[in-house]
Amino acid sequence: MKSLRYINKYFIKYKWRFLFGILFTVVSNYFGVQMPAFFSSAIDQFQEQVKSNEPTDYLWLALELGAIYMGFSLLKGFFLFLMRQTIIVMSRYVEFDLKKEIYGQYQALDQSFYKQNATGDLMNRISEDVGLVRMYAGPGIMYTINLVVGFILIVGKMITISPSLTVFVLLPLPVMSILIYKVSSTMNKMSLEVQKEQSFLSTLAQESFAGIRIIKAYQREEQITEKVSASAERYKNQSMRLVLVNAFFSPTIIFLIGLSSMIAIYYGGLLIIEDKITPGEKKMTIGGIVAFIMYVTNLTWPFASLGWISSIIQRAAASQQRINEFLQRKPQIEDLSNAPCPLENGLQFDNVSFAYPGSDTDVLHNLSFEIQKGQTLAFIGATGSGKSTICSLLARHFDPTSGQISIDSKSLPNYSLQNYRHKIGLVPQDVFLFSDTIANNLKFGVEQKELSSEELEAACKKAHVLHNIQDFQDGFQTILGERGVNLSGGQKQRISIARALLRKPELLILDDCLSAVDTETEEIILDELQKDAATRATIIVSHRISSIRNATKIIVLDKGCIVETGTHEELLSQKGAYYDMYQFQLEQEKKGETEA
Ligand SMILES: Nc1ncnc2c1ncn2[C@@H]1O[C@H](COP(=O)(O)OP(=O)(O)OP(=O)(O)O)[C@@H](O)[C@H]1O
Ligand SMILES: [Mg+2]
Repeated sequence: MKSLRYINKYFIKYKWRFLFGILFTVVSNYFGVQMPAFFSSAIDQFQEQVKSNEPTDYLWLALELGAIYMGFSLLKGFFLFLMRQTIIVMSRYVEFDLKKEIYGQYQALDQSFYKQNATGDLMNRISEDVGLVRMYAGPGIMYTINLVVGFILIVGKMITISPSLTVFVLLPLPVMSILIYKVSSTMNKMSLEVQKEQSFLSTLAQESFAGIRIIKAYQREEQITEKVSASAERYKNQSMRLVLVNAFFSPTIIFLIGLSSMIAIYYGGLLIIEDKITPGEKKMTIGGIVAFIMYVTNLTWPFASLGWISSIIQRAAASQQRINEFLQRKPQIEDLSNAPCPLENGLQFDNVSFAYPGSDTDVLHNLSFEIQKGQTLAFIGATGSGKSTICSLLARHFDPTSGQISIDSKSLPNYSLQNYRHKIGLVPQDVFLFSDTIANNLKFGVEQKELSSEELEAACKKAHVLHNIQDFQDGFQTILGERGVNLSGGQKQRISIARALLRKPELLILDDCLSAVDTETEEIILDELQKDAATRATIIVSHRISSIRNATKIIVLDKGCIVETGTHEELLSQKGAYYDMYQFQLEQEKKGETEA
């Protein structure tokens, strides 16, 4: 329950809606209570008229009473409408704000957070958990107020008619609340299971759509179908059980209302027949009994909602607890400084070691090197040797576990993170493009969205992808991804390079981003990049010697350690690991040529 205090700040923010909501609830209930009272006096009035044998225009009397009754209904309905319009609307605003807050936190948190959390959980927090909290802020609160106000007004009215009858009639209500609470918590448990199975089923279906090519190629259709059927079967059985419990719900309530009404008629009837006047009570009339039956019915739903409300509040509290824990997380990489970052002065690694969060094993060991403006620094090494990890450190997705990365002898955390990242163009190894137009993907990294088409074309020309784009019917407006064109691996890599170039970075990081293009295209792109290499520092990671042979300095990595450094020629003359790699790749190339 404590966790829900967090959203009190939103109730304060929307206090007018909230206060008016309460007011409308009171007014609507007031008219609701007047209706049975009026009905009862109308019946008694009719009876008096009939008894008195006076000539009366009954039709006119009926119309008059009916019109007043309708007036009350309309007023009650109108304020009910206003009550929903204020409180439920407020809850939607709260939901919107909370989602924004959570999403902001998602954007603030860094890679180490994303490594520890599954995408499904992340999605759940922003959709399901917030949804449950909204149920508390909207319907939960609304029905609670409604219950309290309704109870006070109705019971107050009942007591003015007959205190003793009131006690008898109210007896079944607590039983009903407890019963409903039990039924709804059973239902909640069951629906949680149903939900779990449902999300399992949809993940399964989603995966099988995404992997349909593999499924078909490996002829696994039957196995997958069986797996899906089994899950669907479980889902069906659980849903059936839920339906069964659900089916008990309404009959139980109706039975208990019936019981109360019966008591009202029986005991009220006795009071009339015996013509007893209990001390302090008015004489019971038929109209009074009718009013009681109406009041009991009016009380039922608020009471029935008691069990439901308490389960809503419990679930919302659990959800808000999760949300609070998440909102309290601090990103490990924080932007604490405003100092602009003089990247043009070069960047230095001093004894940098690094282990991924949650792991004790270092994947980089005591790396020291530096990179200056105008230079190209290349990394080569077997798979898993730590090349991409170095790129992640350079982009400050993580900070080193020990040692430091510094500019002008001051480590990176002393400079503004925003400013530092602003100067970097990263082309990651696993290319990611958004399901949007090519133009928007290219402009993604720049502030001014209105880049001229010449600039776009120039960058694409450098990345040697312009001719591909122009071949598409819609050119730069071609939509990528699920709803549009699927690009080849090499095309994606080159668009991703152009995207980085458009940022005019001071540090360009190319993480194995030419792996999917042929050596000729690679040559062209490298030549283009070389042309303005003097304006920035370039880091290039590759498995292929052809990509890096012209680099200012080449670093050979093995299991996170630097094993050799030097220019291409220097490394060849050392006849070490680099030389072996070179010989091997040369042989492969020759083999390839003779085979061709
Ligand atoms: N997110 C991660 N969490 C934990 N360990 C990781 C993570 N990413 C990489 N590693 C580990 O760090 C080591 C270096 O990985 P890295 O991706 O830097 O290699 P790489 O040289 O880029 O390899 P490749 O040439 O295949 O791209 C590997 O042992 C890998 O298992
Ligand atoms: Mg890598």
